[in-house]
Amino acid sequence: MSRFAVVGEKQNYHGLCSTPMRRYHAVFVQKNKYTLRTWQTEDAHSLVQELNNKKIWDNCRNVFPHPYRLEHAETFIDLIQKKEGIHDFCIEVNGKAVGNIGFTPGTDVECFNAEVGYVIGEKYWNQGIVTDALQEAIYHYFTYTNTIRIFALVFEHNLPSMRVLEKAGFNKVGIMTKSIFKNGHFTNAHLFELLKNV
Ligand SMILES: CC(C)(COP(=O)(O)OP(=O)(O)OC[C@H]1O[C@@H](n2cnc3c(N)ncnc32)[C@H](O)[C@@H]1OP(=O)(O)O)[C@@H](O)C(=O)NCCC(=O)NCCS
Repeated sequence: MSRFAVVGEKQNYHGLCSTPMRRYHAVFVQKNKYTLRTWQTEDAHSLVQELNNKKIWDNCRNVFPHPYRLEHAETFIDLIQKKEGIHDFCIEVNGKAVGNIGFTPGTDVECFNAEVGYVIGEKYWNQGIVTDALQEAIYHYFTYTNTIRIFALVFEHNLPSMRVLEKAGFNKVGIMTKSIFKNGHFTNAHLFELLKNV
């Protein structure tokens, strides 16, 4: 399906961009299974329905709250909308916001890096949606920012997430032993990276 041009100007090396880019509701791509677009304030309710799930929390940093309530969704969307530039891509299915692909730009000597994280509601798992949406979001992010390297950290038990990264072209760089303390015990984290073709 078609890929839509983004309204706005190229971001600079700090991951900043001019304000016109985020004043508008941008649709980045429309596919049969999903649409990738900017977040809107009214997405909060459907986000709560999809993300208030312990199975999701088990795979995320503790900054991601559980139970996931309306105030968490509203704060999340508010923070996204206050950012300079677009770093979070809403996955919409059947007119509802059901997931996110988010980039966190690095700082200082890592300012050309970004960490990516992603999530989608359980009823949409294993339909190939995040793999495809991740590749579309990365295409956009590499095109409209000066990021040259994207990385992801995955808890060792999260095989679906590792599979997503492999399918999206990431390479596993290594395993960080017991770097994660989650749910009362230590676990390893697998580090994946993707370099921009320059
Ligand atoms: C991880 C997550 C984003 C994947 O999204 P998704 O849309 O279901 O991913 P896709 O359908 O594109 O791909 C999933 C792949 O994992 C595979 N998979 C599923 N369960 C698996 C398992 N137990 N072992 C190995 N592979 C598995 C699927 O078969 C599929 O691969 P395939 O296309 O080769 O068959 C989703 O499960 C999720 O939101 N999980 C909770 C949050 C999370 O873990 N975020 C990532 C933190 S690093």
